[in-house]
Formats: sequence, structure tokens, C-alpha cells
Amino acid sequence: MKPILIANWKMNLNLREAFINAQYLNQHRHTFKFILAPPTPYLAYFVKKLPKIIFCAQDVSTMNGYGPYTGETSADILKSCGINYAIIGHSEQRSAVGYNNTSIQKKVSNCLSAGIKPIICVGEPLVTRRNNQHKEFLLTQITNSIISTGCKNIIIAYEPIWAIGTGVCAKPNELQEIFHFIKTNTAISQLANDIQLVYGGSVDANNYKKILSIKEVAGILVGNASLKSSELKSILN
Ligand code: PGA
Repeated sequence: MKPILIANWKMNLNLREAFINAQYLNQHRHTFKFILAPPTPYLAYFVKKLPKIIFCAQDVSTMNGYGPYTGETSADILKSCGINYAIIGHSEQRSAVGYNNTSIQKKVSNCLSAGIKPIICVGEPLVTRRNNQHKEFLLTQITNSIISTGCKNIIIAYEPIWAIGTGVCAKPNELQEIFHFIKTNTAISQLANDIQLVYGGSVDANNYKKILSIKEVAGILVGNASLKSSELKSILN
């Protein structure tokens, strides 16, 4: 099976810049299953124009279906635009917008009922890692935001907050420990075969191979490095 590469463009690139970059990526065959998360307004247009790329939303609403919820975008609306993946619970959303495990769980459940595969982000802050409480922290995030939905067929992205956008990538031994913990923990292990684990946090062209060599890792989630077409292409090829 091909490894997964999720490119998260966050709130970057205007429509023209984003389309040029995506068009360039659409022209190539990839050694990865390539999933691109551009800003939301571009999605429906890109899905039509760039059929070789799998597109992904960066979030979905806690509201389900359709209704009087100004400013919200539901999983069902995204699905109707041809979107089959969504990033849920990114730490930037958890901290900037204030989403907690309960709202994340609602989003996950909305995705699953709309037929969208959620990519659920979990990860500890630096202080938690320094106090050696990261496993407990992750288990709470996973059990509260994921397991309570009883879901299968999901992607969990381990993105330690101290690694996102900092240039400090988690070390292979740290990742091995965490992925093994997630896969074998009794609260989660029944779902282990249905969960794919990916890593995100300062992944770039220099370190991605080491990350992918870890047995439990199904792929990578790339932020900053995915904005540079040449760097992204050197990973994809
Ligand atoms: P980064 O971002 O690769 O820039 O660290 C990853 C992410 O936020 O998903």
C-alpha cells in the first residue's frame, strides 16, 4: 500500500497561487496517496479541475446537515462538493477556536455519517511531554474524541504541538514509542486494524524517509514544507 501524504496548506496562498501549485501537483504520478487540504473556498473548484488529486477539508462544523448556521460548513456540504477527507481537531483549531474533545467528537461523528474519512489530530504541548505525561494526555484525547463515536475507518494524526511549525521534528524513537502505545493500548487496540496512523510536525524533504521507516506509520502530514512546490515534489517523487 502506498504511504499517505496529507499536505495542509492552512490559511495560505491566494486562489491563483494555490491553483498553480495544485495544477503542477496534478500533473505528476506519485509514490504516495496524495491528499491536499487547501483553503475551504477553493475545494469545489479544485475537485472539478484537478481530478488526479484527492482533496481534503481543514475542518467541518459541529452542526450536522443543512440549516440556519451562518458561517458554518457541514460535512454534508463538503461531501456534496466531492470531498472525502477532513482534518479534524488540528491543534491550531483546538487552541485558536477553542474546540475541545466533545466538539471534536461531534465533528468526527458528522464526518462519518456524511461518508467523509476524518483525519483526527492529537498531540501534547511541550510542558506535558517534559512532565512525562504525554501518553496519558494522548489517551484522553483519543478516547474522548474518537472512541466514544465507536468509529472505524479513520486516520489518527499524531502532531505534537511542540513540533508543529517549529522545525523540531519528533525523533524516530519517540514516534515508535507513541505509535506502538496507540496501537496496543487496550482502549484502542480493538480498532487498531481500522485506524491508520500518520505523523505531522516539521516534516520536510530531509526527514520524511526516517519517519516512514517506522513500522506503524502509514504516512505524513506536511504543513510548511508543502507550500514550497519544489520541496513537496521532491518528497512525492
Ligand atoms: P508543519 O505543520 O509541517 O508546518 O509543522 C504541520 C501541521 O500543522 O499539520
